[in-house]
Amino acid sequence: MTFPRTLRLVEMSPRDGLQNTPGPVIATGIKTELIDRLAASGLRHIEAASFVSPRWVPQMGDAAEVMAGINRRPGVRYSVLTPNLRGFENALAAGVDEVAVFAAASETFSQKNINCSIAESLERFRPVMTAARAAGIPVRGYVSTVLGCPYEGDIAPEQVAAVARDLTGLGCYEISLGDTIGVGTPAKAKRMLAAVTREVPVERLAAHFHDTYGQALANLYAVLEDGVAVIDSSVAGLGGCPYAKGASGNVATEDVLYMLNGLGIATGVDLNKLVETGVWITEQLNRPNGSKVGQALAGPTRNPERTEASNGQN
Ligand code: HMG
Ligand code: MG
Repeated sequence: MTFPRTLRLVEMSPRDGLQNTPGPVIATGIKTELIDRLAASGLRHIEAASFVSPRWVPQMGDAAEVMAGINRRPGVRYSVLTPNLRGFENALAAGVDEVAVFAAASETFSQKNINCSIAESLERFRPVMTAARAAGIPVRGYVSTVLGCPYEGDIAPEQVAAVARDLTGLGCYEISLGDTIGVGTPAKAKRMLAAVTREVPVERLAAHFHDTYGQALANLYAVLEDGVAVIDSSVAGLGGCPYAKGASGNVATEDVLYMLNGLGIATGVDLNKLVETGVWITEQLNRPNGSKVGQALAGPTRNPERTEASNGQN
């Protein structure tokens, strides 16, 4: 077993992290500041928004304004979700660097999320791929429900592999494997990955694990062992899918980074800056910080009583 020496983190919080936030739509200025802070922490690939129907996902209705409001940092890739050609055209006009199309391994989830079958979704992506190729925009592909579906339960690894293969065939440069509802466990993640790598080389795969059952880090470790070198994560563990009831956020970026630092895998991301950003955004949203590492590292400075207590014990 050899771990990768370097790894690309794809930051999900501005999109996956915020899309499901209940209550009023979050101010565009908070979203743009979040993205700028994430870029300043060293993250080089940030999913900034999605150009989907605002009726379906009201929190993402200001995607164009978000793209216009961020301070573009050289070397940072700002990507967005585009479910159809209309979304792609709007994204292109907004100046994105990259787009992502999203399919599912479960028919029911596909219907609930994008209102069409898996086969129909792939047909819908075809014109997106053509337009993206013409515009020189790389396209990432997601497969959701790779380790379980909220409606159908277990999903056969071969089904995941087939959708990953089809998305690659359409021209996606990378396939991100989504444990949408965070139900996977390490052996299951390895079995799924083994099936997918029979169709798509591991160099073209990313792990996108939600942490609903607290298994995401263990699952990531399992797939790192098998060669995955791209991880999707969300600062402070923000997030959840609006069409997957009960699903909590992506694995927290701070927790992933802490583990990767311990393994000696380079990412170029500054943990302290990331922790500060996690604290800042959770205060803005008045939400708990879902990162254990964020809580541990930010706790003493933000809570003087705790500093004294821990000093007393040490
Ligand atoms: P539909 O109702 O089947 O399609 O929705 P439609 O063509 O009939 O359009 C419905 C309305 O949306 C119309 O407006 C369109 O104009 C408008 P109305 O006439 O009702 O006022 N519309 C759009 N507006 C803006 N931008 C667009 C767009 N397209 C249509 N691009 C559709 C189909 C795909 C549009 C809809 O189902 C949708 O937007 N779904 C998005 C769902 C979503 O964003 N889910 C969360 C992201 S996926 C995720 O979180 C999983 C992931 O993280 C991986 C994982 O964890 O597994 C990626
Ligand atoms: Mg997700």
